[in-house]
Amino acid sequence: TRTPVNVTVTGAAGQIGYALLFRIASGQLLGADVPVRLRLLEIPQAVKAAEGTAMELDDCAFPLLSGIDITDDAKTAFDGVSVALLVGARPRSKGMERGDLLEANGGIFKPQGEAINAGAADDVRVLVVGNPANTNALIAQRHAPDVPAERFTAMTRLDHNRALSQLAKKLGVPVTGIRKMTIWGNHSATQYPDLFRAEVNGRVAAEAVNDQRWLEDDFIPTVAKRGAAIIEARGASSAASAANAAIDHVYDWVNGTAEGDWVSMAVPSDGSYGVPEGLISSFPVTVEDGKYSIVQGLEIDEFSRARIDASVAELVEERDAVQALGLI
Ligand code: NAI
Repeated sequence: TRTPVNVTVTGAAGQIGYALLFRIASGQLLGADVPVRLRLLEIPQAVKAAEGTAMELDDCAFPLLSGIDITDDAKTAFDGVSVALLVGARPRSKGMERGDLLEANGGIFKPQGEAINAGAADDVRVLVVGNPANTNALIAQRHAPDVPAERFTAMTRLDHNRALSQLAKKLGVPVTGIRKMTIWGNHSATQYPDLFRAEVNGRVAAEAVNDQRWLEDDFIPTVAKRGAAIIEARGASSAASAANAAIDHVYDWVNGTAEGDWVSMAVPSDGSYGVPEGLISSFPVTVEDGKYSIVQGLEIDEFSRARIDASVAELVEERDAVQALGLI
């Protein structure tokens, strides 16, 4: 039997946590033959709620779940961790300035980065889901200097999956007929879902759509503003779909991407496509042997270039803001 893999989930008592933990425990995060030990990190006021979720996890009698620890201490939570899902974050409250939001999140992601640095397993992989995800990931990464920088990633897979579904609907094809979707840039309204490099049954997606107006005025804003549309309809933000995307992100990072396809992940830039080195920005990536690489050599048309640059400029602003606040 295999040794259980330690998986830490922060914000475990939140909505995404509730949708995520059961899927991890059932084997969907790492594979159906990999036992997991869950570590739940919460703030003290939410520890009791996390204990309630842990009771329900017990009640599922998942064969792969070898144990659950609950804590409000980051050092304990990340000790020996191989997969860290940083979901808990400080949401923007009414009237909150961006600087206040970044500062509040710095107060969360700095100590968590330090705790990962101090105790994580050598093979640790970090996925930041909590918003502003890219910049929160940057903060955590900068406080974990002993962990290879590329182990810190942020989630744009939900945007990626949303783009797949919108395109599939438009063309009346199954999502499985679409390959090479890319989300570029920031997980925010400036993100760029790219149909010029995506393929539908082997054809360039933008050509298959052949409707630039739909692409600009419908597809891109629908994908980029989907989170707000879900809040409007559901009265709460995306949770099950966000948890699903987190599962997809980590599963593919560990198990690899399909031949002839790629996925979107926000990862530290190596300077590819003019994205300043070190920024955690979304790229097309392939994964082999548990290591991702940014897809190289794609030609970027002028329309796409401008959109990518705009989203990257926002990431630069966020980085400069957290730098000015002394958070990195
Ligand atoms: P939620 O408010 O239901 O849950 C957040 C949980 O985090 C709460 O239980 C809270 O007590 C906990 N928490 C706060 N500070 C913490 C800390 N320092 N350590 C540990 N736990 C802490 O929120 P929900 O809906 O689960 O969303 C979580 C985050 O995910 C939000 O920031 C949201 O904006 C983000 N999100 C990101 C998406 C993406 O595509 N990247 C998609 C959807 C949501």
